[in-house]
Amino acid sequence: MADTVKTGISGLDAMLYGGIPEGNQTIVAGGPGAGKTLLSFEFLYRNAKMGIPGVFFALEENPKRVVENAKKAFKEFTDIDDLIAKKLLLVDGEDPSARLHEGADPSSYEFGKVVSDIEALVTSIGAKRIVIDSISLLSIIISNPIAYRRAMLALVSNLRRINVTSLLVSEIANPERSKLTFKPEFFIFDGIVNMYQSGEEEKRITAMEIIKMRGSKHSNSTAPYEITPSGFKVYASEELESE
Ligand SMILES: Nc1ncnc2c1ncn2[C@@H]1O[C@H](COP(=O)(O)OP(=O)(O)OP(=O)(O)O)[C@@H](O)[C@H]1O
Ligand SMILES: [Mg+2]
Repeated sequence: MADTVKTGISGLDAMLYGGIPEGNQTIVAGGPGAGKTLLSFEFLYRNAKMGIPGVFFALEENPKRVVENAKKAFKEFTDIDDLIAKKLLLVDGEDPSARLHEGADPSSYEFGKVVSDIEALVTSIGAKRIVIDSISLLSIIISNPIAYRRAMLALVSNLRRINVTSLLVSEIANPERSKLTFKPEFFIFDGIVNMYQSGEEEKRITAMEIIKMRGSKHSNSTAPYEITPSGFKVYASEELESE
């Protein structure tokens, strides 16, 4: 049986019956502002604190802003810079839209570039964890659905080859359970964590659900969550046996 990778996120490991099977590639899906970037960041932060290096690959936001926003939201994570200095955390990325230039087949070129850049970063610090925020952006570069599916399969096999456990952010227009439409990547990857938001501004309800996790038992219920200065709090109905 594969080893289990703790997310280190309060309540989430209980929902995952301990964690994510090592080597799994998990989609973090959700609507705008659900907390996908922060949740993925906390996963890398918690693992870095356990001494396990990770790479955050930002395709959507400037990497500097990712770190700034995480520091603002997680006021108690005072050692982020320290972990970066120790090469336990590497936040990098690129703006693929800036590279949408002339050329015969920019999509395959760009995608190949993204994969090789990620691999170089992973190798540079010996990363075992990786976040790509977001893979939805790749669907903009690769508009042909068959080419997109092929690119996703290539991404899966590349991540497998470099032997990392990954979280891949995916934007969904309507995160409501009943209206959830599954994208090709939802079938290709090993796991899906979905983040829902419902209600209006003031009384917005946020909740998380594990839709699938290959190779592991997981919670089948939806758990509310909040973002606090000391990290995410997921109010799972399960309890971790070891805690
Ligand atoms: N300082 C803070 N304290 C509490 N919550 C915060 C703070 N800063 C941001 N948030 C919450 O985090 C959310 C943004 O988180 P995040 O950037 O991870 O979302 P996202 O799902 O990645 O969004 P997007 O789709 O825009 O990329 C905000 O909507 C807000 O609810
Ligand atoms: Mg985001």
